[in-house]
Amino acid sequence: MKYNLVILSGAGISAESGIKTFRDSDGLWENFAIEEVATPQAWKNNPDLVQKFYNERRLNVISANPNAAHHYFSDLQEHFNVQVVTQNIDDLHERAGSKNVLHLHGNIRYAKSSGPDKEKKYYLIDGHELKMTDCCDDGFPLRPHVVWFGEEVPLLEQAGRIVEQADILIVVGTSLSVYPAANLIHYTKASCRKILIDPKADQMSVESVFTKINKSAVEAVGELKELLF
Ligand SMILES: NC(=O)c1ccc[n+]([C@@H]2O[C@H](COP(=O)([O-])OP(=O)(O)OC[C@H]3O[C@@H](n4cnc5c(N)ncnc54)[C@H](O)[C@@H]3O)[C@@H](O)[C@H]2O)c1
Repeated sequence: MKYNLVILSGAGISAESGIKTFRDSDGLWENFAIEEVATPQAWKNNPDLVQKFYNERRLNVISANPNAAHHYFSDLQEHFNVQVVTQNIDDLHERAGSKNVLHLHGNIRYAKSSGPDKEKKYYLIDGHELKMTDCCDDGFPLRPHVVWFGEEVPLLEQAGRIVEQADILIVVGTSLSVYPAANLIHYTKASCRKILIDPKADQMSVESVFTKINKSAVEAVGELKELLF
C-alpha cells in the first residue's frame, strides 16, 4: 500500500528555475505593487497593464525549465500516491512529470472569461501573448486564468479534502502569508508527518511537529531522501 504524500508548494520552489518569488522582493511582484496588477480593481482600472504584466510572466514561465526539486517530487510518484497542491501559476510541476497537480491560484498558460462565468471554461493560450481583442465565446475579453487577490479560490475545498488525506505533507517554498491557502497546513489528520522546506524555515512560525529543512528546494532534496526512505 502506498502512503498519500501531499506537496503544498509556493513561489519558492520555482525560484531556482529563474521565476522570481513575491515576498522576497518586499511585497512587490517584478517591481509592481499587487494592487496594480493582481486584483479585480487593477483589471477594471488598467486592463492593458494587467494583460501586459501577465504576458511577460507567461513568457518567463515558458522560457523556464523545471528544476531538480520539481523532478524529485515527480520521481516520488513511484513510491507514494503524490498529490501536488500548488499556489504557483506556473506549470513546472506538470512539466517535470507530476500527474496530479491542483492549481489553487490558476495556471498562467490558460485564459478564461472576464465576464461573470469566468470559471466555466479555460483556454490554453497559444504562445505567451493574450490580446485585449481575444474574446471568450460569451463575448467578454479573455483574462489570465489566475486567482487575483480579493477573489474566491474555487478549488479551496477540493484542496482541503486532499490535505486531510495526507500521511505526509511537504510544504515547500511558501511564505504561508497568502490566505486562505496558508490555512491548508492545519487541515491534516493528527498522524500526518509534516516537513517544511524553505531557506527561511527557521524563522517561520509553524507547529512544532514540523521537521524544518532550512535550505532551498533544490538543496533540500538530499535531506528529504534521507527523511522519506
Ligand atoms: N512561480 C509562480 O507561479 C509565482 C511566482 C511569484 C508569485 N506567485 C503568486 O504569488 C503568491 C505568493 O505566495 P507564496 O507563498 O507562494 O510565495 P512568497 O513569494 O510569498 O514566498 C516565497 C517563499 O519561498 C521561499 N524561497 C525563496 N527561495 C526559495 C528556494 N530557492 N527554495 C525554496 N524556498 C524558497 C522564501 O523564503 C519565501 O518563504 C502565490 O499565491 C502565487 O500565486 C506565483
